[in-house]
Amino acid sequence: MNVKDKVVMITGAARGIGRTAVQLFLAAGAKVAMCDINEEQLQATRGDLDPEGARPLLAVPLNVADRASVDAAVKTVTAAWGRIDVLVNNAGITRDAMLHKLAEEDFDRVISVNLKGVFNCTQAVVPVMSAQKSGAIINTSSIVGVYGNVGQTNYAAAKAGLIGMTKTWAKELGRHGITVNAVAPGFTMTEMLATVPEKVLDGVRNNTPLKRLGAPEDIGNAYLFLGSKEASFITGQVLGVDGGLVL
Ligand SMILES: NC(=O)c1ccc[n+]([C@@H]2O[C@H](COP(=O)([O-])OP(=O)(O)OC[C@H]3O[C@@H](n4cnc5c(N)ncnc54)[C@H](O)[C@@H]3O)[C@@H](O)[C@H]2O)c1
Repeated sequence: MNVKDKVVMITGAARGIGRTAVQLFLAAGAKVAMCDINEEQLQATRGDLDPEGARPLLAVPLNVADRASVDAAVKTVTAAWGRIDVLVNNAGITRDAMLHKLAEEDFDRVISVNLKGVFNCTQAVVPVMSAQKSGAIINTSSIVGVYGNVGQTNYAAAKAGLIGMTKTWAKELGRHGITVNAVAPGFTMTEMLATVPEKVLDGVRNNTPLKRLGAPEDIGNAYLFLGSKEASFITGQVLGVDGGLVL
């Protein structure tokens, strides 16, 4: 995948899928701004991935739900590298509960990070991409956004909303040379699954044609493809990366 010298901004990059995506883009020759709300974890990850400070890697504190923080992060990246070629809207949280128990603040929090956060980051980055007349935006949805899931009213709403925004932006931004796609991961082994009982995960494995859960690399490689030159005629799509679970 050709992403050499592209400037890539990845949100939620301090751990999990985002962290792995940072490694994949760096290995492919991109310059990467890793952004996360968890500053301690962000610095620790930066230290792990680039102990000598010799790689084209920036660690940028960012709360996607806070527009001022988003604007500041975009400024930091453009001040360092003058452009942004790829935005990966990967940051996401869960606050699971059945509908009758779901607190209003947990509904609002998930929508503000997982849905409005994507709006905030995209709206802040698009002027930079429009001026370049090129760019790729990748939104992390979920199979839950397409098929729903028990106990995830808030998460499913946000991840489905993302798909609507992806298709709308693909139509609006194509004329500026910007592609917009979504990736819909299935169950992927990160700390996000820490609270899911092993029994449930076993059930998922059994129901998956490929008989395993996703690895962060499976999702990171989809980001890499959609951010690459090779994917430049693909826009408005939702790429399922779930081992066939939802077939
Ligand atoms: N793991 C899965 O099974 C799975 C499945 C489908 C979709 N996803 C999606 O993939 C993405 C990555 O998930 P993951 O499994 O790596 O999760 P994770 O919890 O391991 O990592 C998420 C990262 O996002 C950061 N973050 C949280 N709120 C933020 C905010 N307001 N601003 C900036 N950063 C913030 C966290 O600090 C963390 O580093 C998420 O959007 C998630 O919804 C994950």
